[in-house]
Amino acid sequence: MTRVLVFGGTGQLGLALQRAQLPASWEIKTLSRRDLDLERTDAIEAAIATLRPAVIINASGYTGVDKAESEPELALALNRDAPAAMARAASAIGAPLAHISTDYVFRGDKPAPYVETDARDPVSVYGVSKADGEVAVLDAHERAAIVRTSWVFSADRTNFLKTMLRLGETRDEVGVVGDQLGRPTGTDELARACIALVSRLLDGDADAAGVFHFAGAGEATWADFAEAIFTQATQHGRNRVRVKRILTAEYPTPAQRPANSRLDTSKIEALGITPAPWRDGVRQYVAQLLA
Ligand SMILES: NC(=O)c1ccc[n+]([C@@H]2O[C@H](COP(=O)([O-])OP(=O)(O)OC[C@H]3O[C@@H](n4cnc5c(N)ncnc54)[C@H](OP(=O)(O)O)[C@@H]3O)[C@@H](O)[C@H]2O)c1
Repeated sequence: MTRVLVFGGTGQLGLALQRAQLPASWEIKTLSRRDLDLERTDAIEAAIATLRPAVIINASGYTGVDKAESEPELALALNRDAPAAMARAASAIGAPLAHISTDYVFRGDKPAPYVETDARDPVSVYGVSKADGEVAVLDAHERAAIVRTSWVFSADRTNFLKTMLRLGETRDEVGVVGDQLGRPTGTDELARACIALVSRLLDGDADAAGVFHFAGAGEATWADFAEAIFTQATQHGRNRVRVKRILTAEYPTPAQRPANSRLDTSKIEALGITPAPWRDGVRQYVAQLLA
C-alpha cells in the first residue's frame, strides 16, 4: 500500500481528497486536530517520522483571511511554521510533499493573470503567512509541490457558495463585490489536481515539483459567482435573488484583498492536469445542498 498522509482532513479540501477516486494502491491516513495540534511543530515532525508515509498532502491551514489581521502569530504558526516542519520531516524520510497555497500571495494589481514566476507581494497577514509558508517549504524540501489555488468552494464547511445560499433564504437582493476578479475553484477539482500531481511526484517526475497554479476554468467577479449560485438555486425551487454589484470600497473588511486574483494555470495544464469550468462545480454543489 502507498500511505498518503493528509493534514487538514476535516477541511474543505481534506474532505474532497477522502472522497476522490484514488490510485488503487493508495491508502489515505488523516490526523485530526484531536490527534495532532498543528501549532506543535515537534508533534508534526514526530508524527511523520513515526507514520513514515510515502507522500504527504498538506490541506490544512489558517484560512480566516480577516481574522488573521488580529491573530498574526496563529496565522504564521499554522501557515508558515507547520508546513515548514512538514517539509523538514518529509524530506528526512524521502517522502514528497504537496502543499496548498493561495492567490493571496499576490498584491493583485497586475493587469493580467498571475504566473508562477511572478514575485510574491501579499497585502494581508494571511497572504504574508501563506507566502512565508511557500518559501519555507521550498527551502526545506526538493521534492515539494506548492499548489496555489483561489476562491475555494464546496458543499462542506463555510465558504462563499454556502454563505450566498444562506443569505438567499431571507433576502431578495444581496450586495456583492463586483470589482475583484478571480477564478472560483471547486474542491473536487482541486483534489483531483493534487492527486495527479502527487502521483507524478511519487513516480519521481521532477517536473511535478515546484510552484503550480490550479483554479477552476473561466473567470468571475464575486458578483458573477453569486449570480451563478442564485441562478442555479432557482433550478431547485428557490426564489430568484438579485445581485447588487458593489465596489470593494463599499464593503470594508479587516484584510485587504487583491483586485486581480486570476491565476494562470498553463503550467499545470502542460502536465495534462486541466481544470473544468468553475460553473460545473456551482451546479454540482448547489444541487447537493438543495436536493
Ligand atoms: N478557502 C479558500 O478560499 C482558499 C483559497 C486559496 C487557498 N486556500 C488554501 O487551501 C488549503 C485548504 O483550504 P480549505 O478551505 O480546505 O481549509 P478549511 O476548510 O478552512 O480547513 C482547514 C483545515 O485545517 C485544520 N486546522 C486548522 N488549524 C489546525 C490546528 N491548529 N491543528 C490541526 N488542524 C488544524 C482544520 O481542522 P478543524 O476542522 O479542526 O478546524 C481543517 O481540517 C489551505 O491551505 C488554504 O490556505 C484556500
